[in-house]
Amino acid sequence: MDLRHCVIPAAGLGTRFLPATKALPKELLPVLDRPVIQWAVEEAVAAGASEMVVVISEGKELIQQHFTAQPDLEALLDARGKMAELAAVRATDHLASFTWVRQEQPLGLGHAVLCTAEAIGDHPFLCMLPDDLSYGTVPVLRQLVDAHKEYGTPILALMRVPPDQISRYGCAAIAESHGRVHRLSAVVEKPDRREAPSDLAIMGRYVLTPDIFDALRDTAPGAGGEIQLTDGIGALIRNGAVHGVEFTGELLDVGTPAGWLATNAMLALQDPVLGTVLRAAMEVDNR
Ligand code: G1P
Repeated sequence: MDLRHCVIPAAGLGTRFLPATKALPKELLPVLDRPVIQWAVEEAVAAGASEMVVVISEGKELIQQHFTAQPDLEALLDARGKMAELAAVRATDHLASFTWVRQEQPLGLGHAVLCTAEAIGDHPFLCMLPDDLSYGTVPVLRQLVDAHKEYGTPILALMRVPPDQISRYGCAAIAESHGRVHRLSAVVEKPDRREAPSDLAIMGRYVLTPDIFDALRDTAPGAGGEIQLTDGIGALIRNGAVHGVEFTGELLDVGTPAGWLATNAMLALQDPVLGTVLRAAMEVDNR
């Protein structure tokens, strides 16, 4: 089985995090000591991927620099004896190999994935939206890879959400269930809550098979006037089996100011040094 590629769509405008993302790509906002996209790449590597295919748009080239060796910086850190910092910088260079793909127009997530067709070729691949960090014993993408090994089909990450939230997500209809793994009968992007076929939201982590590219080529613009990945997956369901996994653990939002703040606080509290600093800072009565 060849699941070495991971597609990371990073071409979005980051409108939910303005003005921070006016000049800075949202994927480079830090969570603790590293940018959001590095957390994503580390999750993909933990799931067995080694080749990242990142979709960027004009103005987001800074993301490339983060994963490019900076010999001058490394020489300077070396000369100053800053060995921990040097190791951290070098680690980002060696995490994975990268292919950078341009999405010239903001035509939707499905279109962004279609832009990677040539880079991926005829292999199944992982796909992850870097707006959430995986938190838990087994990273979410790893859980999807494990299900793919068992079922051999495309696999989506699913999470139950309250009825008033389902219209923010893609939603999955269930044909049959085996514990936390469901075979899907349909998917619908951002349904009205009264028309949602279930409370299972599609959560931005996928194992996809290369037939998704033909499906996306034939997909007309859907919700929001964009070419939706969910609609392409709908075509795969009509032609064969697609499964969803209700993953264990959590996905932590880092794509909005509130989610980003809560995620930083939660992760910091678990770090011995940062946790002490944060608790002290929260003692507002002592000021
Ligand atoms: C995208 C997908 C949607 C999915 C969501 C998860 O929507 O289109 O199916 O539920 O990510 O975060 P977006 O949040 O980009 O509007």
